[in-house]
Amino acid sequence: MTGKRVLLIIGGGIAAYKSLEVIRLLAKRGVASRCVLTRAGAEFVTPLSVAALSQDKVYTDLFSLTDEAEMGHIELSRSADLVVVCPATADLIAKAAAGLANDLATTALLATDKPVLMAPSMNVRMWAHPATQRNVAQLIADGVRVMSPDEGPMACGEFGPGRLPEPERIVAEVMAMLNDDGVVLGPLRGFRAVVTAGPTREPIDPVRYLSNHSSGRQGYEIAAALHRLGADVRLVTGPTALTPPAGVTVRAVETAEQMLSAVEADMPADIFVSVAAVADWRPAEPAATKLKLKSEKRGAGKAAGVALDLVENPDILKLISARKKDRPRLIVGFAAETDDVEANAAAKLARKGCDWIIANDVSGDVMGGMDNEVLLVRAEGVERWPRMSKSDVATRIAERIAEAFNDPEG
Ligand code: CTP
Repeated sequence: MTGKRVLLIIGGGIAAYKSLEVIRLLAKRGVASRCVLTRAGAEFVTPLSVAALSQDKVYTDLFSLTDEAEMGHIELSRSADLVVVCPATADLIAKAAAGLANDLATTALLATDKPVLMAPSMNVRMWAHPATQRNVAQLIADGVRVMSPDEGPMACGEFGPGRLPEPERIVAEVMAMLNDDGVVLGPLRGFRAVVTAGPTREPIDPVRYLSNHSSGRQGYEIAAALHRLGADVRLVTGPTALTPPAGVTVRAVETAEQMLSAVEADMPADIFVSVAAVADWRPAEPAATKLKLKSEKRGAGKAAGVALDLVENPDILKLISARKKDRPRLIVGFAAETDDVEANAAAKLARKGCDWIIANDVSGDVMGGMDNEVLLVRAEGVERWPRMSKSDVATRIAERIAEAFNDPEG
């Protein structure tokens, strides 16, 4: 990993001192840090200690003509393989989400063409505030990797999520994101993964369709997490409002039948993760022209019922699991359940013929939300994971997949 460089933006928070440890741990792994210290960051750590540890000049927010002559801010933002914001304060997160560029740190974030990792750190209430959560959602939608903060006692005396993730965890994330000429050096390097995500749309007529509330977020996060571990990822997605993760090959589809064809076109694959909320039925014969309201014919005030003739859609997960030739070595299905989650998921595992089921309880606010609470159901048993962000669920799933592929017994 030698020769790799990160641009480390140090925000103004009590955890700023931990960025020094991040610099040290990265250096131990042969990764150089070039640092931008925000004005607030300089209140917590001195430019001198940052310069000493990074063995490089420190860029501060103070406008300097010498700096601009040596290295312009645009070049600075692109001089690294990865941009890391640590600590990412509520203020920096908000500015980045809004695309502000009123100092060196935010200008670098707006000007960069490199992947960005944010390690948040703030008071628990600031983290939980809808404004921060909205900003984080926006950054994730923009393709930024935002880590979940750690949970625990805080400098301000409160307790909860908001603490800076431990430096070791940040460094592990950095190492996973750093890549070599576009090819990520990870445990899944050399393996192909196909991931389906989002809803499908089944046309009723040229202007109407049947669909569901899936946002696609969990599937996109899984595609990104598998890519971070080095897999060659194909994301087959129904319509969503999300920006596809960098480095992932995307096939956009609308209907379940199109999704099946796209998945089949990407076979053979080593891994298949079926996250899409595929519509179970489709209108048997979508009308060629817009259906008209017929109530006028029946007289005013009488509601006219319209019967839709529905046929079953292909079950993509079941079909791929049943492949005789070129069946992916590991097939992971999802089960959205509202009750009896564990029993229903176990039954679904058998019925679909896949290897693992990630069961999520969708009785709450999971669909379209940022968090997820899941069970990993395998033939050898069930694991219940605590509630965490969809992005952390994705990282864990990808890590489990990598373990399965590197298990000599597997
Ligand atoms: N799935 C699929 N193709 C379908 C329906 C579902 O590939 N036509 C996949 C989903 O991507 C998911 C899994 O099957 O991985 C389970 O989806 P879910 O909607 O929970 O299950 P259903 O098969 O629809 O069963 P039910 O609605 O009866 O719970």
